[in-house]
Amino acid sequence: MSSSLFDLTGETAVVIGGTGVLGGAIAQGLADAGAKVTVIGRTKRSELPFVAADATKIDSLRRAHEQTGTPTILVNAAGGNDPKATVTPEMPFEKIPHENWAGVFDLNLVGGVLFPCQVFGAAMTRGSIINIASVSAHIPLSRVVTYSAAKAAVLNLTMFLAREWAGKGVRVNSITPGFFPAEQNRRLLFKEDGTPTPRAQAIMGHTALSRFGEPKELVGAAVFLASSRASGFVTGTDLRVDGGYLSQTI
Ligand SMILES: NC(=O)c1ccc[n+]([C@@H]2O[C@H](COP(=O)([O-])OP(=O)(O)OC[C@H]3O[C@@H](n4cnc5c(N)ncnc54)[C@H](O)[C@@H]3O)[C@@H](O)[C@H]2O)c1
Repeated sequence: MSSSLFDLTGETAVVIGGTGVLGGAIAQGLADAGAKVTVIGRTKRSELPFVAADATKIDSLRRAHEQTGTPTILVNAAGGNDPKATVTPEMPFEKIPHENWAGVFDLNLVGGVLFPCQVFGAAMTRGSIINIASVSAHIPLSRVVTYSAAKAAVLNLTMFLAREWAGKGVRVNSITPGFFPAEQNRRLLFKEDGTPTPRAQAIMGHTALSRFGEPKELVGAAVFLASSRASGFVTGTDLRVDGGYLSQTI
């Protein structure tokens, strides 16, 4: 009885950004729960069925959709920060060029959620969409202005689509990961010798569980939100898997 709540047999999933650290763990977790999973990314880095696409190009996603067909589970996990759109002593907020802002919004909001939902989500007739947000969507991370703003927009778009597509039986939620070491945040978290940066130490000090997350720790949240038996009355919400980061201040 309890395991059938989380059984995804018969479901088909598309995980965009499933070539990455978090998307890859989620893709494998959905497959382990019984779903037929296709990973979409720019370059193949997955043992699961793979289709190449650039999520920031809607035509590229349309071609990928023709190959995958319409899923019942869509995970939008492409994204990441760009240091060129982050405040530094050399580049204060007011000097961040528009193209750098636009690049981060293009990846995290447009390619991250908007285009995948316009292509895959619009075609879905039932099921679950899971967008990957960030703790910085809730409270901006110092210096990381552009990424924080783009991820805040991901939360808002998630809520909008939850209402928009409730009538057709598609639920739309997000997961907020805390800090999980991955390619896109390696320079933020680790020095070249592999030891944590002062920033990483501050983050751990601000995380109730005093550690970074492991990618497999996102799987339970993703399977829960993907399963209509487990989360059929859950839509428009955000599930935090952050070790308690957002539950406290200093
Ligand atoms: N790692 C963390 O601590 C953390 C925390 C909060 C949120 N996130 C979010 O989780 C998601 C996954 O990030 P990650 O940490 O696994 O990083 P990652 O760099 O390992 O994965 C990101 C993936 O997105 C893919 N991607 C990038 N641009 C793309 C494009 N234009 N088209 C298709 N695919 C593209 C990359 O190839 C990569 O496979 C992102 O949205 C990120 O913002 C990560």
